[in-house]
Amino acid sequence: MKALVLTGGKGTRLRPLTHTSAKQLVPVANKPVLFYGLEAIRDAGITSVGMVVGDTADEVRAAVGDGSRFGLDVTYIRQQAPLGLAHCVLIARDFLADEPFVMYLGDNFLVGGITDLVEAFERADYDAQILLTRVAEPQFYGVAELGPGGEIVGLQEKPEHPRSDLAIVGVYIFSPAVHEAVRAVTPSARGELEITDAIAWLIGNGSRVHSHLVSGYWKDTGRLQDMLECNRIVLERVEPDIRGTVDGLSEISGRVVVEPGAVVENSVLRGPIVIGANTKILSSYVGPFTSIGSGCLIENAEIEYSIVLDGSSVQGVSRVAHSLIGRNVEVSRANGVANTHQLMVGDHSRIQVRA
Ligand code: DAU
Repeated sequence: MKALVLTGGKGTRLRPLTHTSAKQLVPVANKPVLFYGLEAIRDAGITSVGMVVGDTADEVRAAVGDGSRFGLDVTYIRQQAPLGLAHCVLIARDFLADEPFVMYLGDNFLVGGITDLVEAFERADYDAQILLTRVAEPQFYGVAELGPGGEIVGLQEKPEHPRSDLAIVGVYIFSPAVHEAVRAVTPSARGELEITDAIAWLIGNGSRVHSHLVSGYWKDTGRLQDMLECNRIVLERVEPDIRGTVDGLSEISGRVVVEPGAVVENSVLRGPIVIGANTKILSSYVGPFTSIGSGCLIENAEIEYSIVLDGSSVQGVSRVAHSLIGRNVEVSRANGVANTHQLMVGDHSRIQVRA
């Protein structure tokens, strides 16, 4: 069994972060989303991974390397343009050869790993195995319609009027039968070769496609609220670990990780939270479900339910919440005219301020 991990695509919904970096590398509890998937693949006993990369190839390569630190052997496959998930299978034909493979979307987050799923596929005689989960807004996903016996009777990609609330999760297992299917499909209305259409083609041509209902937690981290929600889920499970310096005036409660070199002075830390290496928290409140990256400064500020990436600072600002702050960003109090907001923000940013 091999794995095909997809890290191309545009990531438009996480702009402006994804102008400059891959959405699959946005951290959850200070670890890139992509790494959780790679670890799940390794834990399932797979070592040979094809990594489909697009415009952010250099960044993905810098983060993952040859895969050896995950116990993986990674081969990079360059996709010239994001032409769809089925296109990724097409261009990986030589790498995949005639082995079955797991296709893992690099921005998907699945708690519980894939070991059971891989074992189930190996025991059975399916051409494809897909995962389904109930979601509130199925129109944003591939959607499956099941018959009375649980068999798949229809599959549509982001239908305007979904016929069920069962979304297709971005972790698939295929036999080599899928290669004929991806050659057969034509571009969808959004101009992509859809893997959903290839799976529908398999079903239409008499192949055995099995669906599993996911019982554990799953998220496509493409949107801000999904990133924050994933961060919450992972932080709920972290083991408390204080390796930085916390002074006697500070108060710590709940699951709190303070990485080496971090300094906490005169502050309140309410877990679950992670404070990255060499970050300073001074006279501040850091509330539940917050991940602060490394080399950050939080001073005279309050922040909760947020993700702050490396090298950023929040100073003199009361209660930042439900926020995703990129790398090397400065958030500070405006001096001068009262009730004035001074902003210098990149394209496609989203700012919500109190009126
Ligand atoms: O997350 C689950 C959903 O993923 C499924 O329910 C949908 O059926 C499936 O089409 C897919 O939908 P998305 O619109 O969320 O896919 P997205 O464009 O975000 O791409 C998923 C991953 O694959 C992402 O890490 C980027 C990568 N990708 C995407 C395209 C279109 C590539 O590497 N190359 C591509 O051409």
